Order: sequence, then C-alpha cells, then structure tokens
Amino acid sequence: MKSNSAIKFRRHILKLVGLGAIAFGGILSFFIKDILSTKTFPTPTTQLQTYMLPLPRFSSNMMLEKALACRRSIREYLDVPISLDAFSMLLWSAQGITEFNYGFRTCPSAGGTYPLEVYAVVGKGCVSIDGGGYLPEGSYKYNCKTHSITMVKGQDLRDALAKASLNQSWVRDARINIVICAVYERTTRVYGERGYRYVYMEDGHVGQNIYLMAAALKLGAVVIGAFYDDEVKNIIGAQDNEHPLYVIPVGVPKHFYEIDEDDLRKYILRMRGL
Ligand SMILES: Cc1cc2nc3c(=O)[nH]c(=O)nc-3n(C[C@H](O)[C@H](O)[C@H](O)COP(=O)(O)O)c2cc1C
Repeated sequence: MKSNSAIKFRRHILKLVGLGAIAFGGILSFFIKDILSTKTFPTPTTQLQTYMLPLPRFSSNMMLEKALACRRSIREYLDVPISLDAFSMLLWSAQGITEFNYGFRTCPSAGGTYPLEVYAVVGKGCVSIDGGGYLPEGSYKYNCKTHSITMVKGQDLRDALAKASLNQSWVRDARINIVICAVYERTTRVYGERGYRYVYMEDGHVGQNIYLMAAALKLGAVVIGAFYDDEVKNIIGAQDNEHPLYVIPVGVPKHFYEIDEDDLRKYILRMRGL
C-alpha cells in the first residue's frame, strides 16, 4: 500500500500536467486561429468589408410584357459604368426577400430550401456610386436578408473569370459578372437525388429574373454555362460546398434589343398567313 504523501505527490504532478496541457492547448489554438484567419484572407486588401446596398426601389418604367419582349442575350457592352442602384436591383431580382414570415424570395425554391448563393465580380471603376466614386473592384457575396454585399477578394477578377469561361470576351467586357452557386446539400437533404434537378430549375429562375431586371433597366446580360467549375469557384473565392452554375455578365449594351406590341402582332399574323 502506497503512503499518503506518495499519493498526494502524484495528485500534485497530475494537476500540474493538466494545467500545462490546458495552457499549451490555449497557446496552440491561438496560433491555429491566426493561421486559419490568414488563410481565409490572404492579402491585406481582402478584409471582410461589408457594403449596405441602396434599398430596393420599384422605379423602372418598363412593363413586364415589354421586359419579356426585350429580354435578349446581349454580349456587347459600352465602356461605361452601371449605377450602384442598378447593381442593387440586379442582386435583389436574383434572391431578394419578398415575404417576411418565412423569408420567401423573388425566385421560387423547392420546399423553401434556398440552395443558391449569389456572388458578383465587380470590375474597377465599373459600378458608380451616387455623389461620386466607384464600388471597389472585387468579388462580393450577396446577403439577401440585409441586402448587402461582403467583399471576398479585393481585385479586378474579370480577366481571370473570362479565361476560366473559355475566353468568352463578354465576361471581360462586362461591368459586373453575377455568379450563381449551388449548395446542393440544402435541397438533396430533403429530396434526395431529385434535389439536384430542383437546384438546376432554381438556377434557371434566377437567370431569368436577372435577364428581366436587366431589360427593365435597359442593361444587357447573358447567362453563361460554359466555364471550368473549379477555376470559377477559386476565382470568386466561393466556399468548398458552393458550386458555380451560371456566370452572368451584365453591362450597358452597345445595342439594346427593343421590339413593341406591333412587331409581335405583325409577326404572328404573318405566321398565320394573314
Ligand atoms: C443553360 C444555358 C447556357 C448558356 N451558356 C452560354 C454560354 O456559355 N455563352 C453564351 O454566350 N451564351 C450562353 N447561353 C445563352 C444562349 O446562347 C442564348 O440564350 C441563345 O442564343 C438564345 O438567345 P436569347 O437568349 O437572346 O433568346 C446559354 C443559355 C442557357 C439557357
């Protein structure tokens, strides 16, 4: 049988070892946290800067029918900025919240699972702010609840994005590129395999909303499906589980596509042989 003092001594040593381990763990976690945060924000320009967007305004003068008629894929843009107000409305059209109990949005979503995340790649001097200046160039993530954007990367990424999009020049020439990403698990968790098709359908809804909003603002847009997924993901700084589905360049069109009711009627009557 061990003596009392031997047992006391052992307890004392165990206490010291325990305290040492806690202190070591604390120091280690401090450094790990530091390493992780350095990894997330690789350069000093990529602080998590959040910008509140101008509040949504129902101020376009275009009727829905006219916007539908004027929706066109437009790939040639002028070298002039779009306004921050227009930028705000484009993001709102993509995923803005329009119902305040459940947070339903401008686009329908299977079971309200909302699998889509919206990024915007903004070029340098491309989004003008009322009263002077421009939104800093970079990649931003949209927050639909606060209608705000948070900078993920702080550089003009259009050239890299164009290269990742099989060199489609309209990606480079656009003032902004909206990138729609899918977090599949949010929907497949509920619907299994069928969830994938729901996510693609939802992406289509977002694309059409952006097309119509762009038409209503007399801007030009085109949805792009041809790109290298991993490269786009990396360029915009998306999370591991966010998978790009659409890249959507938007700019001031060189030629706005416009037809009216008469043009439609004449075409249909001609098709009827009249
Ligand atoms: C799923 C999908 C993928 C597309 N991918 C591209 C693309 O990579 N590049 C492009 O210039 N246009 C792309 N488009 C746009 C089509 O070329 C365009 O919608 C078609 O020519 C019809 O023209 P409209 O949109 O003016 O009616 C895509 C359209 C869809 C629906």
